[in-house]
Amino acid sequence: MSTTGVAGEDRQDFTSRENEQIRARSLGLLQSLVKPHRARFGWSAIMVVLSTAAQVAGPILIAWGIDVGLPAAVDNGNFVPIMTIVAAFLATGISAAGFLALYTRWSIAMSQDILGELRRRIFAHTQRLSLEFHERYTSGRIIARQTSDIDTLGELLSGGLSNLVAGLLFLAFTAIALVSIDPISGIPLAIAMIPIVGVTLWFSNSSRREFRASRIYSTRLIIQFVESMTGIRAVKSFRREPVDRESYADKVEDYREATRRTIHVFGIYDPALKAIGTLTVSVVLLFGAFRVIDGTFEVGALLAAVLYTRRFFGPIENLAMFYNSFQSASAALEKISGFLDEKPSVIEPLNPEPFNATSGDLALHNVSFSYSAGTPVLPTFTLTIDGGQTVALVGPTGAGKSTLAKLISRFYDPTTGVISLDGRDLTTIADADLRREVTLVTQEAYLFSGSIADNIRLGKSDATDAEIEAAARAVGAHDFITALPDGYDTDVNKRGNRISAGQRQLVSFCRAFIANPRVLILDEATASLDIPSERLIQSALQKLLQGRTAIIIAHRLSTVAIADRVLVMDHGVIVEDGPTADLLKGTGRFATLHRAWRDSLV
Ligand SMILES: Nc1ncnc2c1ncn2[C@@H]1O[C@H](COP(=O)(O)OP(=O)(O)OP(=O)(O)O)[C@@H](O)[C@H]1O
Ligand SMILES: [Mg+2]
Repeated sequence: MSTTGVAGEDRQDFTSRENEQIRARSLGLLQSLVKPHRARFGWSAIMVVLSTAAQVAGPILIAWGIDVGLPAAVDNGNFVPIMTIVAAFLATGISAAGFLALYTRWSIAMSQDILGELRRRIFAHTQRLSLEFHERYTSGRIIARQTSDIDTLGELLSGGLSNLVAGLLFLAFTAIALVSIDPISGIPLAIAMIPIVGVTLWFSNSSRREFRASRIYSTRLIIQFVESMTGIRAVKSFRREPVDRESYADKVEDYREATRRTIHVFGIYDPALKAIGTLTVSVVLLFGAFRVIDGTFEVGALLAAVLYTRRFFGPIENLAMFYNSFQSASAALEKISGFLDEKPSVIEPLNPEPFNATSGDLALHNVSFSYSAGTPVLPTFTLTIDGGQTVALVGPTGAGKSTLAKLISRFYDPTTGVISLDGRDLTTIADADLRREVTLVTQEAYLFSGSIADNIRLGKSDATDAEIEAAARAVGAHDFITALPDGYDTDVNKRGNRISAGQRQLVSFCRAFIANPRVLILDEATASLDIPSERLIQSALQKLLQGRTAIIIAHRLSTVAIADRVLVMDHGVIVEDGPTADLLKGTGRFATLHRAWRDSLV
C-alpha cells in the first residue's frame, strides 16, 4: 500500500543501507528546493567568499603595519607606509561588512522562499494522499511536519547554514594565511588537527544519535498533545485526565532526558576544543618568541601568527554550535522527505477518457478487500446494482458496510477484482469525474469555517442563493437555518452559533442534494436525526433518490422502507439479497431483524 519502509518516524535502528537511502532522499529534496534559486545561491556564495577573505586579511595588515610601517615612520619619519596600511585595513574591514550584509540579505530571502515552498508542498501532498494514509498517519504527526520540523529547518536556513559555510571558509583562509606568513607556526596547528578531528568525529556521531532521539521525543509530545485535545470530550467523560497527564509527563521526561544528553555532548566537545586551542596558541607563542629573540622572526609576524592561531579556533566553536542546528535540521529534513515520499494508495489514471455516467449501473466483479495483508475484511464476491435502484445495506457492526461504501466511492481500491460504473472501471476514471458522479455522505458531517451557505456550496461551487435555498427546503433544513441569527449567512464556527449534530447532517444533505450525483451513498447519514426529522428527510430522500443509484446504510430500519432492494451483510459476506417486500415476508435474517426493530418501537 505505502512505501514507508524508511520513513524515519519512530525507529532509530536503521541499517547502513537504509541510512544511505534516507540521506539520498533528504539530499534530493534539498536539491529540488535550492535549484530554482541557483543564481541567488551563486551570488551569495561569491559574497561570502569575498567577505571572509577580507576578514582574514586583517592580521596580515597588522603585521605589515608593525614590521614595515612602524619602522619607516619611527626611523625615517616616513608616514606613507603606515597610513597606507591603516587605510587598507579600514577598506578591507568595511568591504567585509558590505559583502556580509549582501550575503545575509540574499541568503535569508532565499531561505524564506524555500521554507514557503516546502510548506506549500507539504500541504498539497497531505491533500493528495489517499484516505488510507489519513486513517493511518495521525494528525499530530502531520502537524509536527508542518510546524516543528519546518521551524527547525528554518533555523538552519536563516542562520545556521550561513554561519556553517562562513565558518568553514574562515578556517580554510586562516590556515592558508598563517602558513603563508609563517610556515613554522603551521606545524603546531597541523599537529592540533589530529585531536580536533578526533573529538569532532566523536561529537558528530554522538550528537547525530542524540538529536534524532530528541526529535522523535518532541514529535511524540506533539502527537499526544493533539490527540488528547482532539478527544477532549472522551477524556473528560471517562476521567482520563490523570492517565493522560501521566503519560504526557513521561514523554516530557523522555524529551528532557534526550535534550540533556545532547547538551552533555556539547559540554564535552566545547571545553575539549578550548583546551586544544589554548595549548596550540601557547606553543606558537613560545616558539615564535624564541625566534624573535634569535632575530629570525619579526614581532609583527609573531603577532599575526598568534592572532591567526587564536582565530582559527573561534569558528570551530561556532561550527560546533551550528552543527547543533544542522543536526536537528537534517533530522527534520529526513522526516519531511519521508512524508513527501509517501505515495497515494489510490492513484489517479494518467490520461483518462472523459466520463459521464448515464445509466448509473454499478458492478463489483470478483472483488475482495483487506486493509492490511492477511486479514481480509471482504472475501471475494460479485455484486451488481442496476442504475436507479435504491439499495439498503444492513448488518451488524463491523460487518464491512462502510468498507464497501469506501470501495464504491474509490477511497480505497479493491485488493482484487474490478468495480465499474456504467461498465467503466473506476480506476480509469479521472478523480474530478468520479467525484461528480459518486457522492458519499457519512455520519461525520464536517462543517468548515464560513457561513451555512458556503458550506452547502461545497456541493456545487457555482450554486446560486436560490438553488441553495431550494436544496435546503428539499431536505427540510430551511426552517432551522432561517431561525439562526444570520440565516444562511450564519458563521458556523462562531461561538454561540454552533449547530447540533442533526443540523450538521441536514447541511451535509443539502450539499449532496445540490451536487446532484449519479450514485449517492449514505453511510449512517441519518443517525443523528430525531424521528420527525428523519421522516421529513425520508420524503425528501424519496424525491432525491429518484432516478439515481443509491445505497443507504442504516441501523435504523425505518430508512429501509424506501429501498427497492435489501442486502444483509455479515462478516464481509452478503448473506441475504432480495426485494425489500419479499425479504420482509420471509423468515430470513432481515425479516427477523426488522421484526425485532419494529417491536422495539412500541
Ligand atoms: N481503516 C481501517 N483499517 C483497518 N481496518 C479497518 C479500517 N476500517 C475498518 N476496519 C475493519 O474492517 C471491518 C469492517 O469495518 P466497517 O467500518 O466496514 O464496518 P461497518 O459494517 O461499517 O460497521 P458499523 O456498522 O459499525 O459502521 C472491521 O473489522 C474494522 O475493524
Ligand atoms: Mg460503518
